[in-house]
Amino acid sequence: MSDPRISALQAEVPSLRLLTDPADLAHYGVDWTRRWTPAPMAVALPATIEEVQATMRWANAAGVAVVPSGGRTGLSGGAVAANGELVLSLQRMNRVVGFEPADRLLTVEAGIALEAVQEEARSHGLQYPVDFASRGSCSIGGNIATNAGGIRVVRYGNTREWVAGIRLVTATGELLDLNRGLVKNSSGYDLRHLAVASEGTLGIIVEATLRLTDPPPDTRVMLLALPSFEVLMEVFQALRARLPLEAFEFFTDRALHHVVAHGAQAPFDAAYPYYVVAEFACEGEAGEVQVLSAFEYCMEQGWVEDGVISHGDTQAAALWRLREGITESLAPHLPYKNDVSVRVSAMPGFLARTQALLASEYPQFEVVWFGHIGDGNLHINVLKPADMANADFVVECERVTRLLAETLAEYGGSISAEHGIGLVKKAYLGSTRSAAEIAVMRGIRRALDPAGILNPGKLFD
Ligand code: FAD
Ligand code: MLT
Ligand code: ZN
Repeated sequence: MSDPRISALQAEVPSLRLLTDPADLAHYGVDWTRRWTPAPMAVALPATIEEVQATMRWANAAGVAVVPSGGRTGLSGGAVAANGELVLSLQRMNRVVGFEPADRLLTVEAGIALEAVQEEARSHGLQYPVDFASRGSCSIGGNIATNAGGIRVVRYGNTREWVAGIRLVTATGELLDLNRGLVKNSSGYDLRHLAVASEGTLGIIVEATLRLTDPPPDTRVMLLALPSFEVLMEVFQALRARLPLEAFEFFTDRALHHVVAHGAQAPFDAAYPYYVVAEFACEGEAGEVQVLSAFEYCMEQGWVEDGVISHGDTQAAALWRLREGITESLAPHLPYKNDVSVRVSAMPGFLARTQALLASEYPQFEVVWFGHIGDGNLHINVLKPADMANADFVVECERVTRLLAETLAEYGGSISAEHGIGLVKKAYLGSTRSAAEIAVMRGIRRALDPAGILNPGKLFD
């Protein structure tokens, strides 16, 4: 503890657990981007809201930058601490605070893992429907701070839809109790929604009150092999019209190649250029008939080359693994990630333009496409060649992202659909948010954090 600021913080908040060991600093200073070298001043692990408040009061007075930190599964560098910041990890604040059956509301501390929330909901015969592959390690606070999406948005919406209340500690240590689980509340600005997708720049989310819903129906999972990108949105429209969709995801042959090389089971003997994983409610014989007829319709149109429908949970999980295992299978290649969205109606035109753009600009790199196509959200991952320095690779990818951002602007899309802006997309925020919008955002940030200590350098400067 050689830095005098650390001793000062410890003296101010004697019960606060602080880590300064180099291995801890390295561990808590990074997220899944692995692009920046971690260099935090220290890591604070508060156990109570009071400790968070006292830490923020001290940081505000001392002018120390604070990086709010959840599970650090983020893909935009939002939780990176590379400039001597104090990491404030919510890891120890991971309890269930309470469940109110009449309201179907679950209150949790912000550091709880998404999967623990899903399990708690199930234990009450209900469902928390936000879901994605990092469920075991990401936190509810991080999910709210990024407005996380995932694989069930097409049916249930983003994290924002499920947040009924937030307790937020401001930069100056005030505790704001936002919306308090109310269904109806027309009493002025909804500050709760400002905290959603704020990426740790407006306050520390210490507690969340989450809406739960009916348990999921019995479902089946379908994997379809498609001949071309052009038919992808046709298949989506056809299945959405014929089946109660719970998920509609896609990936390419390259994605399948990596996920199978990572241990997943290849689904078909032959290879196809594109694949869809769709999950839908399916009850009884009527459900079976409905599914078969939807499948046959797609085959008759020439949109589908092959397909398999799950029988039982094991097969369903194996089909989902082909989609959910992609991120982990690509991680060793240090992928440069684009996470873009347009309206579903704009997707065919945008897909054609983007495909042509990337084919001409990335002839030398392997590009892997996948994503939540039913929400208009594409993940385009460019893999770093093993013999190329990461810095050179990123420079080359940034050049193409500028072109992609221009196309997005033409189609009225977003440079980040669900991962957030963080450090990774900061240079492109202005491509899909207007200067006037960004000026308003700046004003809001200044009002809530006058000293500029909350996650400085993230989202915008
Ligand atoms: P962190 O990475 O710790 O932080 C993310 C941001 O939130 C940072 O800006 C941080 O400062 C801020 N923050 C964290 N906690 C708080 C808090 N308590 N108060 C205020 N600010 C806070 N994301 C999707 O949206 N959809 C997906 O399908 C998806 N799949 C993924 C699959 C894998 C395998 C991986 C590794 C990641 C995936 N992600 C996905 C990205 C990531 O898991 C989400 O962004 C998640 O919401 C981040 O949560 P976290 O707790 O890890 O946040
Ligand atoms: C996904 O949809 O799998 C996630 O957003 C993670 C990623 O983009 O790698
Ligand atoms: Zn995603």
